[in-house]
Amino acid sequence: MIDKIKSLLEEIEILKAASIEELEAHRIKYLSKKGEVTNLFNDFRNVPNEQKREVGQLLNKLKDAAQDKINSIKEYFENQNTGANEEDLTRTAYPIGLGTRHPLSIVKNEIIDIFARLGFTIAEGPEIEDDWHVFSSLNFADDHPARDMQDTFFIQSSPEILLRTHTSSVQTRVMEKSQPPIRIICPGRVYRNEAISYRAHCFFHQVEALYVDKNVSFADLKQALLYFSKEMFGVDTKIRLRPSYFPFTEPSAEMDISCNLCGGKGCQFCKHTGWVEILGCGMVDPNVLEACGIDSKVYTGYALGMGIERITNLKYQVKDLRMFSENDARFLKQFEAAK
Ligand code: DAH
Repeated sequence: MIDKIKSLLEEIEILKAASIEELEAHRIKYLSKKGEVTNLFNDFRNVPNEQKREVGQLLNKLKDAAQDKINSIKEYFENQNTGANEEDLTRTAYPIGLGTRHPLSIVKNEIIDIFARLGFTIAEGPEIEDDWHVFSSLNFADDHPARDMQDTFFIQSSPEILLRTHTSSVQTRVMEKSQPPIRIICPGRVYRNEAISYRAHCFFHQVEALYVDKNVSFADLKQALLYFSKEMFGVDTKIRLRPSYFPFTEPSAEMDISCNLCGGKGCQFCKHTGWVEILGCGMVDPNVLEACGIDSKVYTGYALGMGIERITNLKYQVKDLRMFSENDARFLKQFEAAK
């Protein structure tokens, strides 16, 4: 019996199969109920007691060897079917999931698209700015509170170099270098020294628009604002302008749109007024034009500026501003369906 087991062990070691069917025939031959290995187990009871130990060990070894051999040939056939062991050089190494755009980028692009349809082109400027471009050129008086350390981040403790507090600085950069007609839209990040909470952050994003040409009037501004609001929030949107003050525009206004959640009827979001504020605007102050080398007797212009976070909140009702910069995939994934 020992000889029989040993010869079977040798046989199994060099076992081969050209097909899955041949492999199955091997399995039946050795391991099925009437298979050779099974038969040997059945004969085990006839083995004399003094040999039982040795034969038993050999029998177990044989059974394991047969099972292992058959399993490994089977695995080979299975891999061949999926092509996993073939080198396909065109195959992607691992699946790459499509990312999603950040909600602020989605809204920024939408704003840019709308103004592009009115002929505006994108202009950009640096985030680290100087006092002239952020304040002085824009008609901020020397003692204007926005220049205060409490609002502005200064760099290297110099009062001259700072992080821009608004994208209006890009207006100056463009007007200094070019003559009208100027029709630009300036998206970008701005910084203010605010305590971080659900409604304020030390950085956020703005879009600025500037149009300077001969005969630009407040009516042009109002028409652009109405067009923008209807494109952004729907054709039924109404706008309302309230007089306001900015150093760089005269006259200045703040614009409200009819609340897009309740349609103007009044709800918690619009504090039951039916209106929500979305931007500041006005006619470019002649002092600003002159500071940038543009003749204010020949040219007039309008400007407007809005916070992208604010518009995004109106569209998507994001309750906590901090979500925009936390990189939480669970938040970002919700914008998968947006364009
Ligand atoms: N720069 C203003 C701010 O940061 C926004 C603004 C208001 C921009 C009126 C303008 C404007 O161009 O005309 O709050």
